[in-house]
Amino acid sequence: MEIGNRPRRLRMDGRTRDLVRETRIGKSSLIYPIFVEEGKGIRTEIAAMPGQKRYSPDTLAYGLEEAAKAGITNIMFFGIPEHKDECGSQAYADHGIVQQALRIAKKEFPDLYYIGDVCMCEYTSNGHCGMIKGDSVDNDKTLPLLAKTALSQVMAGADMIAPSDMMDGRVLAIRRELDAAGYIDTPIMSYAAKYASAFYGPFREAAGSGNFKGNRKTYQMDYHNRKEAMKEVWLDLEEGADIVMVKPALSYLDIIRDISDAVKVPTAAYSVSGEYTMIKMAAQTGMIDEKAMIAETAVSIFRAGADILITYFAKEIAEMIGEGR
Ligand code: PBG
Ligand code: ZN
Repeated sequence: MEIGNRPRRLRMDGRTRDLVRETRIGKSSLIYPIFVEEGKGIRTEIAAMPGQKRYSPDTLAYGLEEAAKAGITNIMFFGIPEHKDECGSQAYADHGIVQQALRIAKKEFPDLYYIGDVCMCEYTSNGHCGMIKGDSVDNDKTLPLLAKTALSQVMAGADMIAPSDMMDGRVLAIRRELDAAGYIDTPIMSYAAKYASAFYGPFREAAGSGNFKGNRKTYQMDYHNRKEAMKEVWLDLEEGADIVMVKPALSYLDIIRDISDAVKVPTAAYSVSGEYTMIKMAAQTGMIDEKAMIAETAVSIFRAGADILITYFAKEIAEMIGEGR
């Protein structure tokens, strides 16, 4: 039998494979999340996320320097406040932990781009992403607090705002608040399709936001649903979202594909703490090649259609890009 088409021709050596590669990743499409905690001299490794640290404002520069050295250009901040209360007041306090971090970071590393995660769960004594009324999270009472949090982060230097709370109408509430204060050019990256997921487990230890009653299923999405993700995305776009996000990433590649095919804005994907920890822990057993797994999973998310990847492996990925892997 004669074989005319031989797909293997394009796989014969590295240069040919590089030439025909379909998915190419740039360092500038990566976002690295950093945890900042109130206090002094803190550079503690997070037990649930080996290799990730919590920094206090006075040590934050070490974390930023490491990221910058690896070629990271985009940073996302999560805050761990000293005090939590019913209305999460440290989320929008002028001297809240994220606000402090932003001011320091902007001064010491002005060339990096800073994104503020906006949510209440790290700051409320109830541990939920909003205000509690009876047994449930009160959507409309939470909106003004999210808007205030976003504004105070922008005033402290945030270049972009990323609301992760999943309250209805929050993009509009935040957009109005920012516009009224004159910040018409500050983009909103909405956690549009955020699923109620077991993959957030390690994050909740990292951010100290795990001690809430019940679960988050009344506001985060049910992972059985696909069309609903599109609905969330359309609503957020109508409300003025500039970038839409899917979260988590690895178990949601179909959702990333749906959204990136349908929208005319950038699609971001958040490869969350559980995805990180799975690879880290498996690598510690010696049963997998850590770097190879990081590369393959990251590429799969971009191949699914993501334009932007938020990942705790950002430094490792940036280094591999630098090495031409
Ligand atoms: C807070 C928030 C969470 C994550 C980002 N922002 C956790 C949650 O909703 O409980 C998860 C990030 C991760 O797991 O890496 N709303
Ligand atoms: Zn939250």
